[in-house]
Amino acid sequence: MGNFLKVTVFSLVTIGLFAAYSNYGIPVITPAPPPVEEEIDLGAMTMDQYVAFGGRVVEGKGTCTLCHNELGRAPLLDNVAVVADERLADERYKGEAGDAESYLMESLVKPSAYVVVGFGKAGTNDTVSPMPDVSSGGIRLSEAELGAVIAWLQDMAGAEITVEIAAAEEVPEDEGGEPGEPRPMYESVEDMIAELSCGACHKIAEEEGEVGPDLTTIGATRDEAYLRRSILDPNADIGEGYEADMMPPDYGEQLYAAELEMLVQYLADRK
Ligand code: HEC
Ligand code: HEC
Repeated sequence: MGNFLKVTVFSLVTIGLFAAYSNYGIPVITPAPPPVEEEIDLGAMTMDQYVAFGGRVVEGKGTCTLCHNELGRAPLLDNVAVVADERLADERYKGEAGDAESYLMESLVKPSAYVVVGFGKAGTNDTVSPMPDVSSGGIRLSEAELGAVIAWLQDMAGAEITVEIAAAEEVPEDEGGEPGEPRPMYESVEDMIAELSCGACHKIAEEEGEVGPDLTTIGATRDEAYLRRSILDPNADIGEGYEADMMPPDYGEQLYAAELEMLVQYLADRK
């Protein structure tokens, strides 16, 4: 009987230790980021999943963390869903939002409606935001993605989540007609630059981006091979004073070969 008790106690302790180890002892493996275009089934999503989806958009397709990070190029977003009410009451606010949720939406699609002090484009006295409209250009978030980003911002700030999970039918069809049909070529280099949001980060054409190097005279110092490589593989050469992983790495996949050459030629001609 004594032995039986010992064996039982021994087994229980062993099982308990094993359970504790498997719960707390095994390091958590962080999964690799998902591919940029994620298949989502909005109909079946819970709010928690919608919030998590928003977080992935912020880190991935939205490219938000390129600017919103500890380097201080843009304000941190932890608390913006709460600060929104102060923004709306500020006399510098010139938008049309009536509550925190619509303030957040406006920040995403009309960033200049309120420019956080100290973060405006240089020379505009904080009246123009350097942030691109993330529902257009190269980032082009859908309604469902914008909603998920707002849900994520509200969740992160510990605010009430007021957005609804966008219905799947609200997700706009990709431009360019029938699904599977190839995208039409850009009509001009200027269209291409505008669509791909190069100007969000670079001084180029009419744009005044400040995150990356000024490209208005880039052809004077860089040849075509260098320019082609800096678009296809932005981390190959990092200019002095800049950091790797800032410029989106997938322009090569978004452009037809002829368009890439048009763009390279355009840049090489900026002297
Ligand atoms: C090219 C850099 C850049 C990118 C990319 C960018 N932002 Fe911004 N964003 C800024 C800057 C700079 C500001 C501050 C100026 C302003 O108020 O518009 C800002 C402001 C904001 C604000 C308002 C902050 C406040 O305190 O009122 C929100 C919300 C925001 N961004 C969210 C996002 C999200 C979400 C994304 C990705 C979908 C994103 N941003 C992508 C640069 C960027
Ligand atoms: C989110 C910000 C961002 C966007 C959008 C962006 N870039 Fe950049 N780009 C950078 C940064 C930062 C650098 C400097 C670091 C590096 O070389 O990767 C850079 C570097 C470059 C260089 C090399 C410059 C040099 O002198 O070495 C070229 C050329 C360039 N970008 C072209 C473009 C074009 C064309 C587009 C649009 C199709 C574009 N970039 C979009 C941030 C951006």
